Amino acid sequence: MRKIHLTSLLLAVLSQLSFGQGNQVGTKSERYRPQYHFTPKAHWMNDPNGMVYYKGTYHLFYQYYPGGTVWGPMHWGHTTSKDMVHWQEKPIALYPDSLGYIFSGSAVVDVHNTSGFGKNGQVPLVAIFTHHNPKLEKLKSDKIQYQSLAYSLDDGKTWTKYAGNPVLPNPGISDFRDPKVRWYEAQKKWIMTLATKDHITFYSSPNLKSWSKESEFGRDAGAHGGVWECPDLIPLNHNGKTVWVLIANINPGGPNGGSAAQYFVGDFDGKNFRAYSKKTKWMDYGADNYAGVTFSNTGNRTILMGWMSNWQYATVVPTVAWRSATTVPRELGLKEVGKELLLTSKPIKELNTLNEQSFSLKNLAVKDSYDLTAKTKNNTGLFKLELSTQNTDDFSIVLANEQGNEVLIGYDKSANQYYIDRSHSGKVDFEKGFGKRHTAPRFPSDKTISLTLMVDVASVELFADSGLTIMTDIFFPEKPLNKLFIKSTTGISIPNLTYTRLASSVL
Ligand code: FRU
Repeated sequence: MRKIHLTSLLLAVLSQLSFGQGNQVGTKSERYRPQYHFTPKAHWMNDPNGMVYYKGTYHLFYQYYPGGTVWGPMHWGHTTSKDMVHWQEKPIALYPDSLGYIFSGSAVVDVHNTSGFGKNGQVPLVAIFTHHNPKLEKLKSDKIQYQSLAYSLDDGKTWTKYAGNPVLPNPGISDFRDPKVRWYEAQKKWIMTLATKDHITFYSSPNLKSWSKESEFGRDAGAHGGVWECPDLIPLNHNGKTVWVLIANINPGGPNGGSAAQYFVGDFDGKNFRAYSKKTKWMDYGADNYAGVTFSNTGNRTILMGWMSNWQYATVVPTVAWRSATTVPRELGLKEVGKELLLTSKPIKELNTLNEQSFSLKNLAVKDSYDLTAKTKNNTGLFKLELSTQNTDDFSIVLANEQGNEVLIGYDKSANQYYIDRSHSGKVDFEKGFGKRHTAPRFPSDKTISLTLMVDVASVELFADSGLTIMTDIFFPEKPLNKLFIKSTTGISIPNLTYTRLASSVL
């Protein structure tokens, strides 16, 4: 505890020295502090964990190291929200113990008390997580990771580890982690989707305590740049039929370098997952959406949040008091494009509660550069734009400042690609691969190009064409990017443009 206290103090002093007044640790105005994305007040965060909705509260746990701003012995940090937009940080939920660090995992509402943890009618919330044993790691054992349980009998406030841990011992697979558990109603059993090195293994259980192997998927499918991590198996409704999406994150090997999330669409029968195609599809083409998983217990809605960073540089990004944010929560769906079913992601409607002043422009002709700075004047906003594919040419939306830092979000007509270019976005030299231009395909869908851009101080999330192409990128300008331009050398006409200023949700 003493160590933690000293680190916080040191960080506070450092932050003051580097940025002066108004940038205090843990405040809204701290440099690069997102205004409507969750960040811990201080210290290191990576994957979102145990996301569950219960009795009107969304719980988000996360990989957390309270002793510093780089990865260390993992805990589960905890924050809660009524709307997934305003978050209130809570005491740490799970601490490392004699079985190891607390790695990623999920949480479920055990409505039928299958686990028997419930007492006096209280429904237990059960967390299923990986214990990672550093002592065994030192001994070069390959059985360092195994699955364990913790439960809460006060609606998620406090957690007790199960005395019978681990519930799923390691069979001799070095990477054996990140259990995502869901109830499979058709066969009244729990299904665990587990990362097992270069593929996914499915297990089932009647009670969350004893697990049997069902099947494997992925050795001969998809991208294998790194271990398949943080999987999720998600049922989605498509024209009245249930279609299953399997997400498997890899690091490295992403389409624009480093960490990224691939997915497969297919069927699941309680035992096997069968993909319609074994070719990788990418959930997000940006560099900064990793380890995203969905909330449990949200009924018909499927809502995902990711870690808005990338292992390629996460530990060296130039924030001071804390490291990393989550992405905005995204509602997932499916859309047919040609003969394929693709995953769509859209910002959740609850984010509209942040909307402040807004303006719209109709039939805007842009030749070279159109300056929107006077109208926008800030760096947290929502930008919506629609163009017809026939009349458009190359264009970009440019976030900039007086110092000449800029982030370009654009469309390249001849390549039929979207891009985010952060090559000149400010501080880029903390890692050699950071200052790059990232590209993403435009899928042949509608006749209109429709873009939703969510900008929040040091990040941009692009949702294009009904959520078919997604790009999430972070950046670190020397001064706030509070200038905004639309640029097109050949000239374009924009039938419809709306800009909405967004309020801060930092409490
Ligand atoms: C993914 C990951 C997980 C692991 C956790 C450790 O980012 O590597 O596979 O459980 O981070 O913090």
